Amino acid sequence: MTPEIVVIGSSNTDMVIKSTHLPQPGETVLGGQFITAPGGKGANQAVAAARLDGNVAFITAIGRDNLGNQALQNFRKEGIDNSGIKQIKNCPSGIALIMVDDAAENIISVAPGANAQLSPALIDQNQHLLTSAHIVLMQLEIPLETVEHAARIAHQGKALIILNPAPARKLPPELLNTIDILTPNATEAGFLTNTTVNNEASAGVAAQKLHFQGVQTVIITLGGSGALLSSAENGTELIPAFPAEPQDTTAAGDAFNGALAVALAENWSLRTAVQFANAAASITVTRIGAQPSLPRREEISIIWKHNENNS
Ligand code: ATP
Ligand code: RIB
Repeated sequence: MTPEIVVIGSSNTDMVIKSTHLPQPGETVLGGQFITAPGGKGANQAVAAARLDGNVAFITAIGRDNLGNQALQNFRKEGIDNSGIKQIKNCPSGIALIMVDDAAENIISVAPGANAQLSPALIDQNQHLLTSAHIVLMQLEIPLETVEHAARIAHQGKALIILNPAPARKLPPELLNTIDILTPNATEAGFLTNTTVNNEASAGVAAQKLHFQGVQTVIITLGGSGALLSSAENGTELIPAFPAEPQDTTAAGDAFNGALAVALAENWSLRTAVQFANAAASITVTRIGAQPSLPRREEISIIWKHNENNS
């Protein structure tokens, strides 16, 4: 089957400690709980979409090492097309060190390893995936030139291009002009527009600035407040979050983007797709770890029905 959703991005192994509070520089915090789990923004979004019944191909670069082998096995288990995955010799797989506190806040430091070798040439080798895709979904944990190259190629086909601009970095106008949907969180939206985004009103201002920079549709995720959907043509609407008691928000944004891609691949309206994405992310924040926390479609159906019955 031809993959409908092509995710291009990073794959990491996350080493996570959950403890009462985050250490200050020079401080040691004892008594944490440790897990190792598959992560990386690209991999998380690919797995999120696959668990929600998306037909997904993932283009990434991993090391030819134990962690890379485990990641590959994991993508197979999740039913992801891995024909676009390159294992690179003499290069370590990506690692993220993550600390999460009792308030579900996190700090993350990433050693990209092989992710930094995800080159435009690998995109060229997988051009057929991009030109036949319905959705191409990217983030910014890989070289920017690769994201730009992939966007140019996907733009020539029929694909809807979604860019989750995380972690934040300045984006060239040519790239913004080829993106159909930009999905920053509040910090990233603020960074891209030189504003402070911390509520619906300020997100609306940032969205307008991004429309002015050439992006048709902007979806700014606002944590427990949900997401602001803003279309250059149809105006702005805050789509509220589903209720949740957060344990660890790591990969909330990834669950959101993966779910959004699935809903749009199924030709849902943007508004309903954002509701579906909010539902997926609300489950993710109640669990520890990136990929272990990503929900399956049946779980969303349950909270979706519950929400409908209560509205
Ligand atoms: P992270 O970097 O922690 O993965 P993010 O900063 O990219 O997340 P957020 O805006 O914090 O993204 O959250 C993404 C989505 O997750 C929100 O739009 C919302 O749907 C959901 N979400 C986050 N926090 C909560 C919460 N406390 N309750 C319910 N849903 C939440
Ligand atoms: O978005 C969460 C991800 O960011 C983690 O899985 C970690 O690997 C970092 O890339």
